[in-house]
Amino acid sequence: MRTIDWNDESKSVVMIDQTLLPVELNVIECKNLASLCEAIRSLRVRGAPALAAAGGFGMALAVTLSSANSMEKLLNDLKVAASTLIATRPTAVNLAWAVNRVLKATEDSYDLESIKDIVIFEAIRIADEDVKINKAIGKYGQKLLDDGDTVMTHCNAGRLACVDWGTALGVIRSAVEKGKEISVIACETRPLNQGGRITTWELMQDNIPVKLITDSMSGHVMRQGMVDKMIVGADRITQDVVFNKIGTYTHSIVAKEHEIPFYVAAPVSTFDPNGWEDTVTIEQRDADELRYIGDVQIAPKNVDVYNPAFDATPMENITALITEKGIFEPPVLIDEILM
Ligand code: MRU
Repeated sequence: MRTIDWNDESKSVVMIDQTLLPVELNVIECKNLASLCEAIRSLRVRGAPALAAAGGFGMALAVTLSSANSMEKLLNDLKVAASTLIATRPTAVNLAWAVNRVLKATEDSYDLESIKDIVIFEAIRIADEDVKINKAIGKYGQKLLDDGDTVMTHCNAGRLACVDWGTALGVIRSAVEKGKEISVIACETRPLNQGGRITTWELMQDNIPVKLITDSMSGHVMRQGMVDKMIVGADRITQDVVFNKIGTYTHSIVAKEHEIPFYVAAPVSTFDPNGWEDTVTIEQRDADELRYIGDVQIAPKNVDVYNPAFDATPMENITALITEKGIFEPPVLIDEILM
């Protein structure tokens, strides 16, 4: 099933609750904007491309539930919903990209009924396109992988970070589909363990060999010659850096030191052509993510905590960007990729 989808009968958003994986595979339904925003903030749905779909469907919820009786009021309701959605996760640019794309689509509408249809249509289109885009990323990216490669990845840039197939894991899936034998080393990805909980689970579902390590083992593992290539996803790509899950930057330095190719796989909706490292807000997460694992306390209750969700990897540490438009080796001009 898809990670997130629109149920047109019940006019609700259905998604896999990723906070419960790998213990439980449970599908939840968000029937209003508040429950969808809660699901985004608490990472029930997560990963930049899946957040784009969530943003689009959030607008579909807003238009469905609005009681506005004039175009002006409805457009205002949509703008308020857009700001609320975008504020839930500030770093992954795909969320804002999708919400703004849906807003832009309403410019073609002329009455209350047509606006509702347009918003829902555009939201579904964003989700459908995501799957095609990831397959295209996979088609290009698989060429970079050789039969027998061991690929290290960080966090989860798989089908659960997208509507389906995945970006970084999509490249691996496409290589396996071509008959190449690929095995994966998944970094645990503290504090929320998306690598340990989700990447391992989804690769095992597909019978792709995967070995789990803690984040702090990556240097040792690369030094031991256990890694042929590294592929990660991205949450925002600016002119100078790639923002991805905290820990990515460290892996990129070690990979560079050991001359291990370091690839970033992402759709062009992840590119922020107006952004630079110092213009982007890095999401700071709740301190309790470091003080507890589930209900188990693992640090002093009141210890001071620094918990940024993402870091920035400079382009010079990146061997190539894999997109649905092809493979680009830095230094690249983002505007040219987006043309
Ligand atoms: O905080 P998350 O889980 O939403 O973080 C997103 C990620 O999983 C990664 O950073 C990922 O590599 C990019 S999204 C395909």
